[in-house]
Amino acid sequence: MALLDVEEVNTFYGQSQALYDVSLSVERGEVVTLLGRNGAGKTTTLRTITGITPAASGVVRYDGEDFTGLSTYERIQRGLGYVPEDRQVWPQLTVAENLQVPAGRGGDWTVEDAYDLFPALADLADTETGDLSGGEQQMLVVARGLLGGTRLLLLDEPSEGLAPQIVADVRDAIVELKDDLTIVLVEQNVRLALEVADRVYVLANGRVVHEDDADGLEPDDPTLREHVAV
Ligand SMILES: Nc1ncnc2c1ncn2[C@@H]1O[C@H](COP(=O)(O)OP(=O)(O)OP(=O)(O)O)[C@@H](O)[C@H]1O
Ligand SMILES: [Mg+2]
Repeated sequence: MALLDVEEVNTFYGQSQALYDVSLSVERGEVVTLLGRNGAGKTTTLRTITGITPAASGVVRYDGEDFTGLSTYERIQRGLGYVPEDRQVWPQLTVAENLQVPAGRGGDWTVEDAYDLFPALADLADTETGDLSGGEQQMLVVARGLLGGTRLLLLDEPSEGLAPQIVADVRDAIVELKDDLTIVLVEQNVRLALEVADRVYVLANGRVVHEDDADGLEPDDPTLREHVAV
């Protein structure tokens, strides 16, 4: 049984439909990447899984449980970790404090594990988050997403706007996490996506238009060129 099954979900913002019959499944231990242009529906798919923007119809099933009718809070309690696009941190809290809040909810990951994954964060433990660079903040929000009992990590464009060296650090972290976690990664960096993913779904105009093993795809694949900014 897949850890996550999204079955024919339709999701709206008010009257405006953003997802049309989107289906995808994620096996335990997989990294699945969602690719697509701006506005394709990648973020909305993650918001539908978390229940922030629930589906109007269709089913999100996690670990065999129907999530319809469960609040975002209840879904997170089941083991979802969500790292949104906008890197929200508590600017007045230190790095350590930002990590201790979710770590207090329990789970396998400890703050020390987070520092092992991103050693740069350990050196910044006592720094207020508002003083971090964009790359350091990104490491912090990814690290934070692991804590508190996360089993399925949803990452929305973790490499966006980061310097190449930091992108490489984030990539290495995702590869390292593969052993312990299941990951849904939204990424516009096709090369990074294909490096870390087991499987890829391509979204366009709110629909899944292609599904493939990452092994079978090259960055210059015609389908990717058509539907993803390369
Ligand atoms: N809060 C909102 N209210 C109304 N419409 C929205 C809202 N958020 C997104 N949309 C619309 O839903 C559609 C899908 O947007 P979504 O943010 O899921 O795309 P995306 O693939 O994540 O794009 P990007 O690469 O720019 O992050 C777009 O047409 C977008 O304009
Ligand atoms: Mg988005």
